Amino acid sequence: MKILTLFFLIFSLYGSDSFITKEEYAKMLYQSPRGVGCHKCHGLKGKGMVLGRYKEGNSTKVIEAPDITKLSYQKFKKALTSSKNRLMPHYFLTDKEMKTLYYYLKRHR
Ligand code: HEC
Repeated sequence: MKILTLFFLIFSLYGSDSFITKEEYAKMLYQSPRGVGCHKCHGLKGKGMVLGRYKEGNSTKVIEAPDITKLSYQKFKKALTSSKNRLMPHYFLTDKEMKTLYYYLKRHR
């Protein structure tokens, strides 16, 4: 009987998992891409955000995460696969995951 319950549990978990829509999956990935969620810096819709300000001499410098909704896929992918970013963490995303994120950002402009 216990085994039956277990099977049922696994089955229902698996079942509900496969019913999420592409939109839901894309949103999930954007907010938890095996690392810090993109929304924490770029905002929920990818429009960019001011992360902080600091003084340098007499001027105030602004640290900003850029708007990432208007890039070509080439640029988008390049930014995610290069290690030259100064502030953004490095992610290890598959091609499919990057395409999903790109799709998400284009949908929510
Ligand atoms: C800790 C804050 C932070 C997080 C989290 C973050 N980014 Fe960034 N991102 C930045 C900053 C700041 C830049 C500007 C380059 C730099 O200084 O690193 C940037 C640059 C980019 C660029 C290049 C923009 C351009 O105009 O060339 C893309 C694309 C991008 N981020 C996508 C993402 C995606 C997708 C995620 C989630 C997987 C993510 N970022 C998570 C802060 C962040």
